[in-house]
Amino acid sequence: MCGIVGYTGYRDVVSVIFKGLTNLEYRGYDSAGMAIRDEGEIKIYKTLGKLINLKNELESKRSEIKNPTAGIGHIRWATHGSPSLVNAHPHTCSCGKLVVVHNGIIENYKELREKLIQKGCNFRSQTDTETIAHLVADEYSLCKNLELAVRNSVKKLQGAYAICVMHKDVPDLIIGARKHAPMLVGIGDGENFIASDTPAIIEFTKKTIYLDDNEIAVITKDNVKITDIEGNIVEKKVEILPWEPIALSKLGFKHFMLKEIYEQSDVIRNVLNGKLYDIDAPINLNEVKLDKEILKKLNKIEIIACGTSLHAALVGKYIIEDLAGISVEVEASSEYIYRKTTTDSSTLVIGVSQSGETADTITAIKQAKEKKAHVLIITNRPDSNMARLADSLIPVNAGIEVSVAATKSYTAQLISFYLLAIQLAEIKGNCDKSYLKNIKHELIQIPTKIEEILSNTSEIQECARKFSSFKNFIYIARGINLATALEGALKLKEISYINATGYAAGELKHGPIAMLDETMPVLSILIPGGITYEKILSNSEEAKARNAKLIALTSSDDKNIETIFDVVIKIPKVSEILSPTITCVPLQLLAYYIAEFLGKDVDQPRNLAKSVTVE
Ligand code: M6R
Repeated sequence: MCGIVGYTGYRDVVSVIFKGLTNLEYRGYDSAGMAIRDEGEIKIYKTLGKLINLKNELESKRSEIKNPTAGIGHIRWATHGSPSLVNAHPHTCSCGKLVVVHNGIIENYKELREKLIQKGCNFRSQTDTETIAHLVADEYSLCKNLELAVRNSVKKLQGAYAICVMHKDVPDLIIGARKHAPMLVGIGDGENFIASDTPAIIEFTKKTIYLDDNEIAVITKDNVKITDIEGNIVEKKVEILPWEPIALSKLGFKHFMLKEIYEQSDVIRNVLNGKLYDIDAPINLNEVKLDKEILKKLNKIEIIACGTSLHAALVGKYIIEDLAGISVEVEASSEYIYRKTTTDSSTLVIGVSQSGETADTITAIKQAKEKKAHVLIITNRPDSNMARLADSLIPVNAGIEVSVAATKSYTAQLISFYLLAIQLAEIKGNCDKSYLKNIKHELIQIPTKIEEILSNTSEIQECARKFSSFKNFIYIARGINLATALEGALKLKEISYINATGYAAGELKHGPIAMLDETMPVLSILIPGGITYEKILSNSEEAKARNAKLIALTSSDDKNIETIFDVVIKIPKVSEILSPTITCVPLQLLAYYIAEFLGKDVDQPRNLAKSVTVE
């Protein structure tokens, strides 16, 4: 969370930084700010709320920026100190000569702040970041060397940080440092960049150096130097970013979320491509770096993830247990890290994350590694910190996902789990071969089924219109689609702020049924052919008897459904085991259209950020 961009070079500094911040806005949007080096001065601009406010501020003050040569910018997702102008970054030291932007949390900032106040520093904000500004300035006053001052300062910081620092007296030099928060350097010709994530620089350069923890980058327009915390030069590999700038465009869609929902069929084809072209051949995910003999004996898997990725993990559990007969535990990373787990060297631990930067999951993965488990990471960001921790890495190849609400990365995670489960089942040899073959055959058809849903969304839009005034929803399902119910409800909560809860349909009568009346619609996911179809139907009838309005999401042709349910959203025929790959799509659309009718900020919902890099 929070986004950082630093630039020095020949282009218009303000525009480059602003563009970078625009491409990072999904990381936070409580406030934004920029510090520009211009004709020997450091000029600071900050605004509260979204980036558009900073744009207006910069436009109104444009005439005072004459010849900018370097700058640093920030968009904030508030952790310490409320979203306010005084807490917005960049922060400065008492004399205003040193500026800093920061992503992360400094855990010992209070004691550092106390010491600095005693030394006469004048604090203005409630942020932990301001402490860094005073600390580096204090060190600089002693050594008169900005690089050394940053090195000495970060040695005193506890917690997580990615920082960029500039000083009025050190022309066109930007220093970046990181620990437990992502940071990279973009290499140009006569220009260089520092950023917290690749979208910030992709429009300008694809050449990137990823900083590791405790490394410091010193950049000028013509030079990049990376050192460790002691000042020793570190030789780093220059990597070429795989993304194209076009991925950051809405391509005519009103929102990124809608565009990303529509991309799902192609994303799935992309995931399957090269992995599943001959249904008679075994699946071979060569990304899984475990010996076949070890996989054959494997009897314990733990999957750790958060939010939407946790829901993908629940589907993963269901299919791995069903197809490969391996026992799977799924746990929220934030729970896993604060208890005594039974993880050991015979456990395969799977970490699932769209961003690869989620702090809770990173901590959980580190703990699993300490216990000598083999760690497999399923992520959409093979360039992320989590990916770097992986023993085995499955990139889901969904392309950059800009909308805060995850959609295409979820379906890509699901498909990766299907491929993994089939591979494990084939290696174990304990699943009926023709059953596996049917699943493979149907997997290939999933993109077409999704396209069928996307080609006519009028039923879903109508349903959204009808139900957009309700304040509470219940989503029910049983078995493998319980994850879909949870995910559908999460999507609705995230972008429309409507209270929606997913329940195992059988649990309704054990408590939640007490809430039901005509103000609480119940959405049921019904896939015929599955063993729980009839049961969910009766659970829905129970809800109807309590006057709840009923919505069915179903592939059933049963005429009875039309009489029981108030609204029926039809989806193509699909087997129960593969149904989560398509049942999620109408629920994403339902959440989208409800939020859209309510005029909500679909791509950047309040209080959220795309990657949650704090615990
Ligand atoms: O990047 P990750 O998959 O690790 O993120 C986990 C959650 O923060 C994320 O899925 C969140 O729930 C999304 N906003 C879902 O739309």
